Amino acid sequence: VFQAYGELERQGLIEARPQSGFFVRARQQLPEPLPDAVPQSATPVTTQELTLAIISAGRRPAVALDAATPAAALLPTVQLGRSLARAARRGAIGYEHPPGRASLRRELARRSVNWGCHLTPDEFVITTGATEALGLALRAVGRAGDTIAVESPTYYGVLQTIESLGMRVLEIPTSAQDGLSLSHLERALQRQRIAACFAMPNFANPLGSAMSDERKQALVDLLRRAHVPLIEDDVAGDVCFLGPRPRAAKSFDTRGLVLYCSSASKTLAPGFRVGWMAPGRFRERVIALQWASTIATSTPAQLAIADYLSSAIYDRHLRRFRAAVSGNADRMGALIAREFPDSTAVTRPRGGLVLWVELPRRIDSMKLHALCLRHGIAIMPGTLFSPRPIYRHCIRLSCGVAWSTEIERALALVGQLARRL
Ligand SMILES: Cc1ncc(COP(=O)(O)O)c(C=O)c1O
Repeated sequence: VFQAYGELERQGLIEARPQSGFFVRARQQLPEPLPDAVPQSATPVTTQELTLAIISAGRRPAVALDAATPAAALLPTVQLGRSLARAARRGAIGYEHPPGRASLRRELARRSVNWGCHLTPDEFVITTGATEALGLALRAVGRAGDTIAVESPTYYGVLQTIESLGMRVLEIPTSAQDGLSLSHLERALQRQRIAACFAMPNFANPLGSAMSDERKQALVDLLRRAHVPLIEDDVAGDVCFLGPRPRAAKSFDTRGLVLYCSSASKTLAPGFRVGWMAPGRFRERVIALQWASTIATSTPAQLAIADYLSSAIYDRHLRRFRAAVSGNADRMGALIAREFPDSTAVTRPRGGLVLWVELPRRIDSMKLHALCLRHGIAIMPGTLFSPRPIYRHCIRLSCGVAWSTEIERALALVGQLARRL
Protein backbone atom coordinates (compact mmCIF):
# COMPACT_ATOMS: atom_id res chain seq x y z
CA VAL A 1 0.00 0.00 0.00
CA PHE A 2 2.83 2.38 0.87
CA GLN A 3 4.59 1.58 -2.40
CA ALA A 4 1.36 2.43 -4.25
CA TYR A 5 1.10 5.72 -2.34
CA GLY A 6 4.74 6.44 -3.20
CA GLU A 7 4.13 5.79 -6.89
CA LEU A 8 0.96 7.94 -6.97
CA GLU A 9 2.84 10.72 -5.20
CA ARG A 10 5.70 10.46 -7.70
CA GLN A 11 3.18 10.86 -10.53
CA GLY A 12 1.76 13.96 -8.85
CA LEU A 13 -1.69 12.40 -8.43
CA ILE A 14 -1.73 12.52 -4.64
CA GLU A 15 0.14 14.51 -2.04
CA ALA A 16 1.22 13.85 1.53
CA ARG A 17 0.14 16.51 4.01
CA PRO A 18 2.05 16.53 7.31
CA GLN A 19 0.17 14.71 10.12
CA SER A 20 -2.97 14.39 7.96
CA GLY A 21 -2.32 11.60 5.45
CA PHE A 22 -2.52 11.40 1.66
CA PHE A 23 -4.83 13.60 -0.44
CA VAL A 24 -5.87 13.49 -4.10
CA ARG A 25 -4.50 16.51 -5.94
CA ALA A 26 -6.96 18.64 -7.96
CA ARG A 27 -7.40 17.04 -11.38
CA GLN A 28 -9.30 19.62 -13.40
CA GLN A 29 -6.18 21.51 -14.40
CA LEU A 30 -5.37 22.35 -17.96
CA PRO A 31 -2.40 21.48 -20.16
CA GLU A 32 0.97 23.13 -19.57
CA PRO A 33 1.74 26.21 -21.69
CA LEU A 34 4.41 25.68 -24.33
CA PRO A 35 7.68 27.61 -24.54
CA ASP A 36 7.42 30.57 -26.92
CA ALA A 37 9.53 31.51 -29.94
CA VAL A 38 13.29 31.99 -29.76
CA PRO A 39 15.04 35.31 -30.48
CA GLN A 40 18.29 35.12 -32.42
CA SER A 41 20.01 38.07 -30.77
CA ALA A 42 20.21 39.94 -27.48
CA THR A 43 17.51 42.50 -26.72
CA PRO A 44 17.86 45.76 -24.78
CA VAL A 45 15.47 45.95 -21.83
CA THR A 46 13.08 48.90 -21.66
CA THR A 47 10.31 47.64 -19.41
CA GLN A 48 11.28 49.33 -16.14
CA GLU A 49 8.99 52.34 -16.51
CA LEU A 50 6.01 50.10 -17.28
CA THR A 51 6.91 47.76 -14.41
CA LEU A 52 7.01 50.64 -11.91
CA ALA A 53 3.70 52.00 -13.22
CA ILE A 54 2.05 48.57 -12.80
CA ILE A 55 3.51 48.04 -9.33
CA SER A 56 2.40 51.48 -8.13
CA ALA A 57 -1.07 51.08 -9.65
CA GLY A 58 -1.60 47.82 -7.74
CA ARG A 59 -0.48 49.12 -4.35
CA ARG A 60 -2.81 48.14 -1.49
CA PRO A 61 -5.63 46.53 -3.49
CA ALA A 62 -8.49 44.76 -1.68
CA VAL A 63 -7.28 41.45 -3.12
CA ALA A 64 -3.57 41.12 -3.99
CA LEU A 65 -2.93 38.33 -6.49
CA ASP A 66 0.01 40.14 -8.05
CA ALA A 67 3.05 40.00 -5.78
CA ALA A 68 5.06 36.78 -5.44
CA THR A 69 5.24 37.31 -1.69
CA PRO A 70 3.49 35.33 1.04
CA ALA A 71 0.53 36.84 2.90
CA ALA A 72 1.43 37.92 6.45
CA ALA A 73 -1.10 35.40 7.83
CA LEU A 74 1.08 32.55 6.51
CA LEU A 75 4.24 33.83 8.19
CA PRO A 76 5.56 33.37 11.77
CA THR A 77 5.05 37.04 12.58
CA VAL A 78 4.95 36.67 16.38
CA GLN A 79 8.10 34.53 16.64
CA LEU A 80 10.00 36.81 14.26
CA GLY A 81 8.90 39.79 16.37
CA ARG A 82 10.40 38.05 19.44
CA SER A 83 13.64 37.40 17.56
CA LEU A 84 13.77 41.05 16.57
CA ALA A 85 13.15 42.15 20.19
CA ARG A 86 15.99 39.88 21.38
CA ALA A 87 18.24 41.45 18.73
CA ALA A 88 17.31 44.95 19.91
CA ARG A 89 18.03 44.02 23.55
CA ARG A 90 21.51 42.92 22.49
CA GLY A 91 22.13 46.46 21.23
CA ALA A 92 22.23 45.89 17.46
CA ILE A 93 23.15 49.49 16.72
CA GLY A 94 26.46 49.37 14.85
CA TYR A 95 27.30 48.35 11.29
CA GLU A 96 27.62 44.65 10.56
CA HIS A 97 30.25 45.01 7.86
CA PRO A 98 30.55 42.73 4.81
CA PRO A 99 30.46 39.77 4.60
CA GLY A 100 27.78 40.14 7.32
CA ARG A 101 26.90 38.69 10.72
CA ALA A 102 28.88 35.53 11.48
CA SER A 103 26.00 33.85 13.40
CA LEU A 104 23.72 34.20 10.35
CA ARG A 105 26.41 32.90 7.98
CA ARG A 106 26.89 29.91 10.34
CA GLU A 107 23.15 29.11 10.23
CA LEU A 108 23.13 29.36 6.43
CA ALA A 109 26.18 27.10 6.19
CA ARG A 110 24.41 24.54 8.41
CA ARG A 111 21.29 24.74 6.24
CA SER A 112 23.20 24.59 2.95
CA VAL A 113 23.50 20.83 3.50
CA ASN A 114 19.77 20.70 2.66
CA TRP A 115 20.54 22.23 -0.75
CA GLY A 116 23.30 19.67 -1.33
CA CYS A 117 25.98 22.37 -0.98
CA HIS A 118 28.02 21.94 2.27
CA LEU A 119 29.14 25.58 2.18
CA THR A 120 31.23 27.14 4.97
CA PRO A 121 30.24 30.39 6.76
CA ASP A 122 33.12 32.15 5.00
CA GLU A 123 31.60 31.47 1.60
CA PHE A 124 28.49 33.57 2.35
CA VAL A 125 27.92 37.30 1.97
CA ILE A 126 24.79 38.74 3.63
CA THR A 127 22.86 41.16 1.42
CA THR A 128 19.83 43.44 1.53
CA GLY A 129 17.40 40.91 0.08
CA ALA A 130 17.99 38.75 -2.97
CA THR A 131 17.60 41.93 -5.02
CA GLU A 132 20.92 43.30 -3.78
CA ALA A 133 22.51 39.86 -4.23
CA LEU A 134 21.39 39.72 -7.88
CA GLY A 135 22.58 43.27 -8.55
CA LEU A 136 25.99 42.58 -6.97
CA ALA A 137 26.27 39.32 -8.92
CA LEU A 138 25.49 41.03 -12.22
CA ARG A 139 27.97 43.82 -11.51
CA ALA A 140 30.66 41.35 -10.43
CA VAL A 141 30.51 39.40 -13.70
CA GLY A 142 29.61 41.98 -16.34
CA ARG A 143 29.30 45.60 -17.35
CA ALA A 144 27.10 47.86 -19.52
CA GLY A 145 26.56 46.47 -23.01
CA ASP A 146 27.07 42.83 -21.92
CA THR A 147 24.54 40.10 -22.69
CA ILE A 148 22.91 38.04 -19.95
CA ALA A 149 21.13 34.80 -20.93
CA VAL A 150 17.82 34.46 -19.08
CA GLU A 151 14.85 32.10 -18.95
CA SER A 152 11.85 33.20 -20.99
CA PRO A 153 9.61 34.34 -19.37
CA THR A 154 11.75 35.60 -16.47
CA TYR A 155 11.34 37.50 -13.20
CA TYR A 156 10.64 41.16 -14.01
CA GLY A 157 12.76 42.34 -11.06
CA VAL A 158 15.95 41.02 -12.61
CA LEU A 159 14.97 42.65 -15.92
CA GLN A 160 14.79 45.97 -14.06
CA THR A 161 18.28 45.45 -12.62
CA ILE A 162 19.66 44.44 -16.02
CA GLU A 163 18.09 47.52 -17.59
CA SER A 164 19.50 49.83 -14.91
CA LEU A 165 23.00 48.41 -15.57
CA GLY A 166 22.71 49.00 -19.32
CA MET A 167 22.99 45.26 -20.06
CA ARG A 168 21.01 43.27 -22.64
CA VAL A 169 19.22 39.94 -22.38
CA LEU A 170 19.14 36.89 -24.56
CA GLU A 171 15.97 34.96 -23.83
CA ILE A 172 16.29 31.19 -23.76
CA PRO A 173 13.07 29.18 -24.26
CA THR A 174 11.96 27.62 -20.99
CA SER A 175 9.53 24.80 -20.33
CA ALA A 176 7.09 25.08 -17.45
CA GLN A 177 8.04 21.51 -16.55
CA ASP A 178 11.81 21.30 -16.44
CA GLY A 179 13.11 24.80 -17.05
CA LEU A 180 15.70 26.32 -19.36
CA SER A 181 16.31 24.61 -22.73
CA LEU A 182 19.93 23.46 -22.55
CA SER A 183 20.17 22.86 -26.30
CA HIS A 184 19.13 26.47 -27.04
CA LEU A 185 21.55 27.76 -24.43
CA GLU A 186 24.37 25.66 -25.91
CA ARG A 187 23.70 27.04 -29.40
CA ALA A 188 23.59 30.59 -28.05
CA LEU A 189 26.93 30.10 -26.27
CA GLN A 190 28.48 28.95 -29.54
CA ARG A 191 27.04 31.89 -31.50
CA GLN A 192 27.79 34.90 -29.29
CA ARG A 193 29.56 36.24 -26.23
CA ILE A 194 27.45 35.85 -23.12
CA ALA A 195 28.68 37.46 -19.89
CA ALA A 196 26.54 35.34 -17.55
CA CYS A 197 23.44 33.20 -17.37
CA PHE A 198 20.72 34.10 -14.85
CA ALA A 199 18.45 31.18 -13.92
CA MET A 200 16.01 29.98 -11.27
CA PRO A 201 16.46 26.17 -11.41
CA ASN A 202 14.09 25.63 -8.44
CA PHE A 203 10.51 26.82 -9.02
CA ALA A 204 11.23 29.64 -11.42
CA ASN A 205 9.26 32.87 -11.31
CA PRO A 206 6.86 33.00 -13.18
CA LEU A 207 6.75 29.48 -14.75
CA GLY A 208 7.25 27.45 -11.57
CA SER A 209 9.51 25.10 -13.55
CA ALA A 210 11.87 22.78 -11.68
CA MET A 211 15.03 21.38 -13.24
CA SER A 212 15.99 17.81 -12.33
CA ASP A 213 19.37 17.29 -10.65
CA GLU A 214 20.73 15.84 -13.89
CA ARG A 215 19.70 18.96 -15.81
CA LYS A 216 21.13 21.25 -13.11
CA GLN A 217 24.44 19.43 -13.37
CA ALA A 218 24.31 19.62 -17.18
CA LEU A 219 23.62 23.39 -16.96
CA VAL A 220 26.57 23.98 -14.60
CA ASP A 221 28.87 21.80 -16.76
CA LEU A 222 27.79 23.49 -20.00
CA LEU A 223 28.47 26.97 -18.60
CA ARG A 224 31.78 25.87 -17.01
CA ARG A 225 33.02 24.58 -20.38
CA ALA A 226 32.17 27.98 -21.90
CA HIS A 227 33.73 29.86 -18.88
CA VAL A 228 30.41 31.63 -18.28
CA PRO A 229 29.24 32.27 -14.68
CA LEU A 230 25.79 31.16 -13.54
CA ILE A 231 23.79 33.55 -11.35
CA GLU A 232 21.45 31.19 -9.52
CA ASP A 233 18.31 32.63 -7.90
CA ASP A 234 17.04 30.11 -5.33
CA VAL A 235 14.54 32.27 -3.40
CA ALA A 236 11.78 29.68 -3.90
CA GLY A 237 13.92 26.58 -3.18
CA ASP A 238 12.42 26.12 0.31
CA VAL A 239 8.84 26.36 -1.02
CA CYS A 240 8.61 22.82 -2.41
CA PHE A 241 5.20 21.17 -2.31
CA LEU A 242 6.22 17.50 -2.36
CA GLY A 243 9.20 15.52 -1.13
CA PRO A 244 12.53 16.86 0.09
CA ARG A 245 13.86 20.34 -0.64
CA PRO A 246 15.54 20.24 -4.08
CA ARG A 247 19.30 20.68 -4.52
CA ALA A 248 20.72 23.96 -5.74
CA ALA A 249 22.66 24.10 -9.02
CA LYS A 250 25.46 25.50 -6.81
CA SER A 251 25.88 21.98 -5.40
CA PHE A 252 27.39 20.93 -8.77
CA ASP A 253 29.82 23.87 -8.89
CA THR A 254 33.45 22.73 -8.73
CA ARG A 255 35.10 25.93 -10.02
CA GLY A 256 33.40 28.71 -8.04
CA LEU A 257 31.56 29.85 -11.17
CA VAL A 258 28.06 29.76 -9.63
CA LEU A 259 26.92 32.86 -7.75
CA TYR A 260 24.17 31.50 -5.51
CA CYS A 261 21.56 34.11 -4.41
CA SER A 262 18.61 33.76 -2.04
CA SER A 263 16.78 35.46 0.83
CA ALA A 264 14.33 35.22 3.71
CA SER A 265 11.65 36.98 1.64
CA LYS A 266 9.65 33.99 0.39
CA THR A 267 9.24 32.04 3.62
CA LEU A 268 9.84 34.45 6.51
CA ALA A 269 9.83 38.23 6.20
CA PRO A 270 10.15 40.15 2.92
CA GLY A 271 10.22 43.41 4.88
CA PHE A 272 13.33 42.45 6.90
CA ARG A 273 15.31 42.75 3.65
CA VAL A 274 17.73 39.96 4.54
CA GLY A 275 19.27 38.00 1.69
CA TRP A 276 22.51 36.15 1.07
CA MET A 277 24.80 34.94 -1.62
CA ALA A 278 27.59 32.43 -2.04
CA PRO A 279 29.46 34.11 -4.90
CA GLY A 280 32.22 31.53 -5.35
CA ARG A 281 35.35 32.97 -6.97
CA PHE A 282 33.68 36.43 -7.20
CA ARG A 283 33.52 36.87 -3.41
CA GLU A 284 36.15 39.60 -3.05
CA ARG A 285 34.68 41.59 -5.94
CA VAL A 286 31.17 41.29 -4.47
CA ILE A 287 32.36 42.46 -1.06
CA ALA A 288 34.13 45.46 -2.60
CA LEU A 289 30.99 46.37 -4.56
CA GLN A 290 28.84 46.06 -1.44
CA TRP A 291 31.14 48.34 0.59
CA ALA A 292 30.85 50.90 -2.19
CA SER A 293 27.05 50.74 -2.49
CA THR A 294 25.25 49.99 0.79
CA ILE A 295 28.11 49.32 3.29
CA ALA A 296 26.03 46.72 5.12
CA THR A 297 22.68 45.01 5.59
CA SER A 298 20.56 46.14 8.57
CA THR A 299 22.08 44.67 11.76
CA PRO A 300 18.87 43.97 13.78
CA ALA A 301 17.30 42.21 10.79
CA GLN A 302 20.37 39.98 10.32
CA LEU A 303 20.39 39.10 14.02
CA ALA A 304 16.68 38.36 14.06
CA ILE A 305 16.83 35.99 11.08
CA ALA A 306 19.90 34.25 12.60
CA ASP A 307 18.05 33.89 15.91
CA TYR A 308 14.95 32.49 14.21
CA LEU A 309 16.88 30.04 12.01
CA SER A 310 18.84 28.71 14.98
CA SER A 311 15.63 27.40 16.59
CA ALA A 312 13.85 24.28 15.37
CA ILE A 313 10.68 26.23 14.57
CA TYR A 314 11.71 27.15 11.03
CA ASP A 315 11.28 23.56 9.83
CA ARG A 316 7.90 23.27 11.55
CA HIS A 317 6.83 26.58 9.98
CA LEU A 318 8.04 25.40 6.54
CA ARG A 319 5.92 22.23 6.71
CA ARG A 320 2.77 24.23 7.41
CA PHE A 321 3.66 26.96 4.96
CA ARG A 322 4.34 24.54 2.08
CA ALA A 323 1.05 22.71 2.72
CA ALA A 324 -0.88 26.04 2.68
CA VAL A 325 0.71 27.30 -0.56
CA SER A 326 0.40 23.90 -2.27
CA GLY A 327 -3.30 23.74 -1.27
CA ASN A 328 -3.80 27.26 -2.69
CA ALA A 329 -2.12 26.28 -5.98
CA ASP A 330 -4.47 23.28 -6.32
CA ARG A 331 -7.59 25.26 -5.49
CA MET A 332 -6.61 28.06 -7.83
CA GLY A 333 -5.80 25.66 -10.67
CA ALA A 334 -9.23 24.04 -10.30
CA LEU A 335 -10.99 27.41 -10.14
CA ILE A 336 -9.16 28.71 -13.21
CA ALA A 337 -10.16 25.58 -15.13
CA ARG A 338 -13.80 26.27 -14.22
CA GLU A 339 -14.07 30.05 -14.49
CA PHE A 340 -11.54 31.23 -17.09
CA PRO A 341 -12.14 31.38 -20.87
CA ASP A 342 -11.93 28.12 -22.84
CA SER A 343 -8.43 27.18 -23.98
CA THR A 344 -6.80 28.93 -21.01
CA ALA A 345 -3.71 27.04 -19.84
CA VAL A 346 -2.26 27.19 -16.34
CA THR A 347 0.97 25.83 -14.89
CA ARG A 348 1.01 23.06 -12.30
CA PRO A 349 4.10 23.97 -10.29
CA ARG A 350 5.68 21.65 -7.74
CA GLY A 351 6.76 24.63 -5.67
CA GLY A 352 7.08 28.40 -5.49
CA LEU A 353 4.51 31.11 -4.97
CA VAL A 354 3.07 31.74 -8.43
CA LEU A 355 0.88 30.37 -11.20
CA TRP A 356 1.39 31.40 -14.83
CA VAL A 357 -1.82 31.61 -16.82
CA GLU A 358 -1.87 31.65 -20.61
CA LEU A 359 -5.15 33.18 -21.82
CA PRO A 360 -6.48 33.05 -25.37
CA ARG A 361 -4.26 35.27 -27.57
CA ARG A 362 -7.02 37.85 -28.17
CA ILE A 363 -6.88 38.89 -24.51
CA ASP A 364 -4.58 41.78 -23.63
CA SER A 365 -3.35 41.30 -20.05
CA MET A 366 -2.81 45.07 -19.66
CA LYS A 367 -6.51 45.66 -20.31
CA LEU A 368 -7.42 42.81 -17.95
CA HIS A 369 -5.11 44.27 -15.31
CA ALA A 370 -6.83 47.69 -15.57
CA LEU A 371 -10.29 46.10 -15.41
CA CYS A 372 -9.35 44.01 -12.37
CA LEU A 373 -7.97 47.06 -10.54
CA ARG A 374 -11.35 48.75 -10.93
CA HIS A 375 -12.73 45.86 -8.87
CA GLY A 376 -9.94 46.15 -6.28
CA ILE A 377 -8.04 43.09 -7.56
CA ALA A 378 -4.34 43.24 -8.50
CA ILE A 379 -2.85 40.76 -10.98
CA MET A 380 0.50 40.82 -12.79
CA PRO A 381 0.32 41.24 -16.58
CA GLY A 382 2.57 38.91 -18.60
CA THR A 383 4.01 41.87 -20.53
CA LEU A 384 6.49 42.52 -17.69
CA PHE A 385 8.20 39.14 -17.92
CA SER A 386 10.04 39.68 -21.21
CA PRO A 387 11.59 42.64 -23.03
CA ARG A 388 9.60 41.52 -26.10
CA PRO A 389 5.79 41.69 -26.33
CA ILE A 390 5.37 37.90 -26.46
CA TYR A 391 3.49 37.36 -23.19
CA ARG A 392 0.77 40.01 -23.59
CA HIS A 393 -1.92 37.35 -23.29
CA CYS A 394 -0.50 35.88 -20.04
CA ILE A 395 -0.89 36.78 -16.40
CA ARG A 396 0.92 35.73 -13.23
CA LEU A 397 -1.09 35.04 -10.07
CA SER A 398 0.21 34.67 -6.52
CA CYS A 399 -0.66 31.52 -4.59
CA GLY A 400 0.94 32.84 -1.41
CA VAL A 401 -2.47 34.09 -0.27
CA ALA A 402 -4.40 33.34 2.93
CA TRP A 403 -7.29 31.43 1.35
CA SER A 404 -10.78 32.90 1.90
CA THR A 405 -14.12 33.17 0.12
CA GLU A 406 -13.08 36.72 -0.84
CA ILE A 407 -10.04 35.37 -2.72
CA GLU A 408 -12.17 32.68 -4.30
CA ARG A 409 -14.74 35.24 -5.51
CA ALA A 410 -12.01 37.60 -6.73
CA LEU A 411 -10.32 34.88 -8.79
CA ALA A 412 -13.64 33.84 -10.32
CA LEU A 413 -14.24 37.50 -11.19
CA VAL A 414 -10.83 37.73 -12.94
CA GLY A 415 -11.98 34.79 -15.09
CA GLN A 416 -15.31 36.44 -15.87
CA LEU A 417 -13.63 39.73 -16.79
CA ALA A 418 -11.21 37.84 -19.07
CA ARG A 419 -14.19 36.18 -20.79
CA ARG A 420 -15.64 39.61 -21.52
CA LEU A 421 -12.42 40.59 -23.33
C1 LIG B 1 12.58 35.16 -8.31
C2 LIG B 1 12.80 36.30 -7.37
N1 LIG B 1 14.05 36.70 -7.12
C3 LIG B 1 14.29 37.73 -6.27
C4 LIG B 1 13.27 38.38 -5.65
C5 LIG B 1 13.59 39.52 -4.74
O1 LIG B 1 13.67 39.05 -3.43
P1 LIG B 1 14.02 40.00 -2.19
O2 LIG B 1 12.72 40.45 -1.61
O3 LIG B 1 14.75 39.07 -1.25
O4 LIG B 1 14.86 41.10 -2.65
C6 LIG B 1 11.95 37.99 -5.88
C7 LIG B 1 10.83 38.72 -5.23
O5 LIG B 1 9.71 38.71 -5.65
C8 LIG B 1 11.71 36.91 -6.76
O6 LIG B 1 10.46 36.51 -7.02
